[in-house]
Amino acid sequence: MDTKKVPWLMLPLFFLCQVSFAADTIFSNQSLSGDRTIVSKNGVFELGFFSPGNSTNYYIGMWYKMANQPNTVWVANREKPVRDTNSSVLKIVDGNMVLFNESQIPIWSTNVSSTNSTSVVAVLLDDGNLVLRQGPNSLMILWQSFDHPSDTWLPGMKLSFNKRTNQSQRFTSWKNQDDPAPGFFSLEMDPSETNQVIFVWNRSQQYWSTGPWDEHTKSFNMVPEMRMLYLAGFIFNHVSNQNESYFTYSFSKNFVNKDFVISRSSINASGQFVGTYWLTTNKDWTLYFSQPKQQCDVYGYCGAFGSCNDKSRQFCNCLTGFQPSSREEWNQQLYSGGCTRQAKLQCENANGRGDQFLEIRMTKLPTNPQNVAADSIKECKSTCLNNCSCTAYAYNDNECSIWTGDLLNLKQLGEDDEEGETLHIRLAYSEFSSLTKSKKKKLIIVAVAVSSGLVLLGLMMFIIKTRWRTTIIPTNPTENSLMAFGYKDLQKATNKFSEKLGKGGFGSVFKGTLPDGSLIAVKKLEGINQGEKQFRTEVSIVGVINHVNLIRLRGFCSESSRKLLVYDYLPNGSLDKHLFHAKDSEVLDWKTRYQIALGAARGLAYLHDKCRDSIIHCDIKPENILLDGDFCPKVADFGLAKLIGREFSRVLTSLRGTMGYLAPEWISGQAITPKADVYSYGMMILEIVSGRRNFQVQVQDSDNEGSFFPATVAIQVSTKGSDVLNLLDSRLNGNVNVEELSRICTVACWCIQDDEFQRPTMSQVVQILEGVSEVSQPPIPRFLQACIKEHSG
Ligand SMILES: *[C@@H]1O[C@H](CO)[C@@H](O)[C@H](O)[C@H]1NC(C)=O
Ligand SMILES: *[C@@H]1O[C@H](CO)[C@@H](O)[C@H](O)[C@H]1NC(C)=O
Ligand SMILES: *[C@@H]1O[C@H](CO)[C@@H](O)[C@H](O)[C@H]1NC(C)=O
Ligand SMILES: *[C@@H]1O[C@H](CO)[C@@H](O)[C@H](O)[C@H]1NC(C)=O
Ligand SMILES: *[C@@H]1O[C@H](CO)[C@@H](O)[C@H](O)[C@H]1NC(C)=O
Ligand SMILES: *[C@@H]1O[C@H](CO)[C@@H](O)[C@H](O)[C@H]1NC(C)=O
Ligand SMILES: *[C@@H]1O[C@H](CO)[C@@H](O)[C@H](O)[C@H]1NC(C)=O
Ligand SMILES: *[C@@H]1O[C@H](CO)[C@@H](O)[C@H](O)[C@H]1NC(C)=O
Ligand SMILES: *[C@@H]1O[C@H](CO)[C@@H](O)[C@H](O)[C@H]1NC(C)=O
Ligand SMILES: *[C@@H]1O[C@H](CO)[C@@H](O)[C@H](O)[C@H]1NC(C)=O
Ligand SMILES: *[C@@H]1O[C@H](CO)[C@@H](O)[C@H](O)[C@H]1NC(C)=O
Repeated sequence: MDTKKVPWLMLPLFFLCQVSFAADTIFSNQSLSGDRTIVSKNGVFELGFFSPGNSTNYYIGMWYKMANQPNTVWVANREKPVRDTNSSVLKIVDGNMVLFNESQIPIWSTNVSSTNSTSVVAVLLDDGNLVLRQGPNSLMILWQSFDHPSDTWLPGMKLSFNKRTNQSQRFTSWKNQDDPAPGFFSLEMDPSETNQVIFVWNRSQQYWSTGPWDEHTKSFNMVPEMRMLYLAGFIFNHVSNQNESYFTYSFSKNFVNKDFVISRSSINASGQFVGTYWLTTNKDWTLYFSQPKQQCDVYGYCGAFGSCNDKSRQFCNCLTGFQPSSREEWNQQLYSGGCTRQAKLQCENANGRGDQFLEIRMTKLPTNPQNVAADSIKECKSTCLNNCSCTAYAYNDNECSIWTGDLLNLKQLGEDDEEGETLHIRLAYSEFSSLTKSKKKKLIIVAVAVSSGLVLLGLMMFIIKTRWRTTIIPTNPTENSLMAFGYKDLQKATNKFSEKLGKGGFGSVFKGTLPDGSLIAVKKLEGINQGEKQFRTEVSIVGVINHVNLIRLRGFCSESSRKLLVYDYLPNGSLDKHLFHAKDSEVLDWKTRYQIALGAARGLAYLHDKCRDSIIHCDIKPENILLDGDFCPKVADFGLAKLIGREFSRVLTSLRGTMGYLAPEWISGQAITPKADVYSYGMMILEIVSGRRNFQVQVQDSDNEGSFFPATVAIQVSTKGSDVLNLLDSRLNGNVNVEELSRICTVACWCIQDDEFQRPTMSQVVQILEGVSEVSQPPIPRFLQACIKEHSG
């Protein structure tokens, strides 16, 4: 095993000066006890006793010395804590590192059998590996912590599958923040397909997988954002030989354009794998990766008879008729203990007061159902009722499913989620009498409210009706007043949201028709936690924006948590369809492409410079450029970043395939300026030129295999006399204005510079594309230089 110093680790000088050069080695005549620690040679890692969170227990652990706690990366005695560190001791005994508890009983050991015990030493290395060596100068490693990971995957560490023993190494979550004992969730190699990584619950149930590894794009199929991370300097590797198959990762020296980075990736106690890095400048951990994105995609997160809801802040609820098994744990947001029945089931000894079923609508059904034959829902129900161990049934699409024992992995879905189904859970008779009682009470209240509210309602209907009328026949069409729609109206206009036009990071878009016959696109916003007033303020700011290259907001709907935006419908849809999915006869010609690039630039320049508060779009990509009947481009989805507010970074990391357009400052956690849009715009116009996604692998082109199109462009435009024609979409057969092609490639290369100060403003881009300003030769962006070396090496 290679244990050289990791090359990316370039310690800043100031730090080296502070190191107290504590020992990195435990010799056989020494021991670790109390507050004593050992520190790796360059001061990166520290090892000793620690106590996690609010716990009073102590463990031998390892952590980054210079970063904030908690940042434990490895724990030795995960399941066997000690309480008194003064009388507990870690030392070398008979060639092994052994931890003795207060009674001097060995509770943890490296457990290797070595023939020569006198000279064995333990050394903590700068990559976070604790190794047991035959002697201080010996290269022979008897044992290493990298082979016995806890929950954290460090750069240089392997996630491996041993083909000889069929054993997969795993990273296993802590039970909770206070207890490092192995929890429910682990990360391991898929034993049946050893080029993918799987997430496993309780060592048995797989709940997420990365999809197979793709060597060309250096990413997993289900994790496209890794391609962007790869180009930013986060390098993942897969090795497979006759003995093992494994993944490792590292950072190139200039990851996020910083010379120094420490990082940790771990599967956390909520079952999510989270990658963070720590920058000396920020003095904080920055999140750059997390999977699965949705908490409720973690198997069994809410435990037995719990139901998960991604839209709710506390995620988990017990089903009706159940209560948390441990109120204390639920209060600490530890849900895996699940829920227990409030009233015992009667089953056979029912005497007419037998168990009944409660209907739960819009739910994702529990896992592992048993399918039984039944011709009707009645038969399905009685099959379940007649078996005492049956706890629930569902009858959907003429199929009867029943469940026995605990119900796991239920998920409450939104009212119009297509996946929502109905489940009937078995409850004791007594639960129903209490349910109907409370229902009756509610009914009375409702009745009173209804009768007294009837008059008011009539009045409101009248108002709504008149407003609806004014909505559809604006007295002055140029007056850009924003309409407030009712949810019901939009439901009707879109025929109950039946025709979906697309789905973006902010929600789905549906086609609709207003009573006057005009076509609209209705966007149902998701993840908005804004107050009513703030929402209206933001909407009214967006509503007054009027530019030929920006899509017009016609109105909105805001009824409690339902937030919708109403736009003009554009018949030619979004640019991506025409670029990437067009039939050969419908390929956009060069003139149209150039006009689209120019129009989009004008729209963005307006957003950046002409609006009262400069609006940063944050999500420029072909999907957000819409085309009207004449292929005039209109930028869509602007102003939404502000609506989503602080939640935006969360939404952003959940976007699929958008990573390729994100400027490096998104990853480095710096402030976002309009120049972030310039970067995304640059990436997008390269796709307008090539007619392909920048990340699309070009396998058919053997000369360029795996090359990254932006890198190819950067080389071409920075080489005098090179032929830009071969950058053009081959479907255009060279029908292009070469002058324009060269201009657009050059400006794109300026737009994607790492340093935002080197990028032009959108107004400058407009001038260049209009031919009003000239443009000089750009340098090759730094992140692309790394990529070129990788591929030619
Ligand atoms: C422990 O052993 C090492 C190497 O054998 C030696 O250099 C060191 O002086 C010893 N320390 C003590 C406290 O005996
Ligand atoms: C730890 O204790 C502090 C103070 O008592 C409390 O505020 C905090 O919530 C506790 N943390 C956990 C994870 O229980
Ligand atoms: C361990 O020893 C240190 C120093 O001798 C002392 O300050 C501390 O209180 C002791 N801790 C315990 C738990 O006895
Ligand atoms: C030390 O460990 C042994 C074996 O696990 C246990 O029986 C004993 O109670 C422990 N001593 C203390 C003080 O916890
Ligand atoms: C050492 O290994 C043996 C068998 O391989 C096992 O029974 C024992 O529990 C291990 N001891 C420790 C402290 O891990
Ligand atoms: C044991 O270690 C000593 C000193 O490191 C060495 O001289 C000797 O050859 C070793 N013996 C074996 C059997 O490895
Ligand atoms: C490992 O699994 C493969 C395929 O399932 C099987 O052929 C092989 O015998 C197994 N090896 C061991 C050591 O279990
Ligand atoms: C987890 O798996 C173990 C062993 O397979 C099993 O005994 C235990 O009941 C499982 N836990 C839950 C909550 O299902
Ligand atoms: C596989 O293991 C065998 C036996 O340990 C070893 O000789 C061989 O070099 C290993 N192969 C590779 C590619 O590591
Ligand atoms: C696990 O990571 C996710 C994503 O960052 C976070 O929302 C969650 O709070 C984390 N859970 C714990 C227990 O730290
Ligand atoms: C109840 O269902 C379970 C699982 O399908 C089955 O094993 C069991 O035999 C059934 N019991 C009766 C009484 O039918």
